[in-house]
Amino acid sequence: MKSQKASTLQQRLKWFHEARFGLFIHWGVHAVMGRGEWAMFFDRIPAREYAKLADRFRPKRFDADAWAQLALDAGMKYMVLTTRHHDGFCLFDSKVSDFTSVKTAAGRDFVAEYVQACRKAGLKVGLYYSLMDWRFPGYFNYKSNPASAAALRQQCHDQVRELLTNYGKIDVLWYDGLWLNHEAGPDETWAKFWKSKELNAMAKRLQPDILINNRAGIPADFGTCEGHVSAAEPGQAWEACMTMSSGWGQIKHDVNFKTTVQLLQHLVAAAAGEGNFLLNVGPGADGTIRNAETSRLREMGRWLKVNGEAIYGSQRFSGIPAEFGYLWTRKGKDCYLHIFHWPGKEMVIPLVKSKVVSATVLATGQRAKVRRECNGRTVLYGLPETPPDKYITTIRIRFAGEPEAVKVTDPAAWLTGEAAGPAR
Ligand code: GLC
Repeated sequence: MKSQKASTLQQRLKWFHEARFGLFIHWGVHAVMGRGEWAMFFDRIPAREYAKLADRFRPKRFDADAWAQLALDAGMKYMVLTTRHHDGFCLFDSKVSDFTSVKTAAGRDFVAEYVQACRKAGLKVGLYYSLMDWRFPGYFNYKSNPASAAALRQQCHDQVRELLTNYGKIDVLWYDGLWLNHEAGPDETWAKFWKSKELNAMAKRLQPDILINNRAGIPADFGTCEGHVSAAEPGQAWEACMTMSSGWGQIKHDVNFKTTVQLLQHLVAAAAGEGNFLLNVGPGADGTIRNAETSRLREMGRWLKVNGEAIYGSQRFSGIPAEFGYLWTRKGKDCYLHIFHWPGKEMVIPLVKSKVVSATVLATGQRAKVRRECNGRTVLYGLPETPPDKYITTIRIRFAGEPEAVKVTDPAAWLTGEAAGPAR
């Protein structure tokens, strides 16, 4: 019985492990102000005043197919959209709230359009949902106003039910906003408040194949880290989410965009730890995604077209440790060296015990020559002086048999060239 359950989870996670790269989209009525998705709280805008923003939220140029096409161009395999963020504004038709894009000026169910576009494009569909909603006084005064806090929880359960009932198959449920009154606290306390066990049980009843993140305070299908890429324990599915600039929701005069190479290095780091990279964009109030974002995504897609075999479905490779400036991924028999700092005509990999059969630069198809030196140094040579790929050069390395590192018994032996046995 136990193993049956485990294999089911593995089956459900199969596409997620293969995917490696997804598009996170933070969008909502906050885009009208263009100061990020926390502006309501940061500026202490009264709920009634904030609600008026919805009169100005008419995204004339919203085109879910264009978003999906962009994700495809970037080489992404799934998307996650904020269906409702902490400000409470729903991008979907909710029976339990009037603060929705359907009942206000926009008059559209953006979640419906988004889900349809994802499916048409062959992308997996993720829905972000913030448990908490600032418009409820009970969110802040949960001890002194338990009735409002209970109403907030009820809204959450009702809306998760709506999202997982009304839009066909949903692949990812991405919770956020677990805490109350922005208080840090043990996750279990908040999970108890939200009745997270019941919530997830309902989600699984409605969508048996869905993957749920762990942000409802209880262990779930995959873990998340935010703003950095840190691998989970082997065997645990995980995803790192990150902004492309300063904010999640659009900050209109943002000047802090990460470079394409930084973004690609994060993607490679996720793949090297067998995790996914969920990269965020913040569309404007008109529904379009800025050039600064689209151009980076398209560049990443171009890199993946050439180097994707080393990323999609990647496994960890710890047979030979990575020293500074490069990372390993693996796929079956092939190991991939992702070089962040191109060394010039020769690349040294120290402490390698196994023989290299071939080393191929993915960007050009060039075969590097290989020689062995003391200290298990495997030297790839005959390479060009300048990096063959302007972002990250990836070399596919095939070893004879299972790759192994030199076992270091004397940590000083390399000083005399004897780390891998007597120097020649
Ligand atoms: C944080 C922020 C939230 C954002 C989320 C993305 O929880 O509060 O605004 O949506 O990170 O992971």
